[in-house]
Amino acid sequence: MKLFLDTANIGEIREAWGWGVIDGVTTNPSLVSKEGRKFEDVLREVCSIVDGPVSAEVVSTDHEGMVKEGRALARINRRIVVKVPMTAEGLRATKTLSSETIRTNVTLVFSANQALLAAKAGATFVSPFIGRLDDVGNEGMQIIEDIVASYSHYSYRTEVLVASVRHPVHLVQAAKLGAHIATLPFPVLKSMIRHPLTDIGLERFLKDWERVPK
Ligand code: E4P
Repeated sequence: MKLFLDTANIGEIREAWGWGVIDGVTTNPSLVSKEGRKFEDVLREVCSIVDGPVSAEVVSTDHEGMVKEGRALARINRRIVVKVPMTAEGLRATKTLSSETIRTNVTLVFSANQALLAAKAGATFVSPFIGRLDDVGNEGMQIIEDIVASYSHYSYRTEVLVASVRHPVHLVQAAKLGAHIATLPFPVLKSMIRHPLTDIGLERFLKDWERVPK
């Protein structure tokens, strides 16, 4: 499973990229606004660090506006994937952009039906938001199972990008279901690394090593 980092923070991206486990980055307007910087400047810097897809979201809601913004975003760097909301206009924009070989990520997906439509429109990635479904009392992971199972019968090229990940258990569940990608906040990536038994084991090895004659 590929792992993307869900952030627009350069420090986090630089650090995680250095660990060699990140395949791409996803941003959204809320993440970008937290940084207090111009969107284009952030994107250029992210693309200079990450050798992989970098999702950048349009904020227009009509087909024309989304396509115009999408083309401009794609011109910034070849790594940029245009993130488009899951609406009728968003599907149209996905179709138009993908016919121009501009990669797209259909976002704000909350059902397997929406994911099927995104695939039909030619999306490169589809982003089901599992954490937000959990928040309203649904089983978010169930739609990942439904989407992966539905796609498996057909030859869609769309990859399932599990989004709105809240904790490491989500990652294990997504991987077991065969999702192509998960995008995760930096704190979740850090908590995947740590295990108390690793820390205790390392401490003991280093202590024992001190008794080895040098
Ligand atoms: C990623 O592409 C999404 O924008 C993100 O995962 C949403 O996460 P949130 O529900 O924690 O805001």
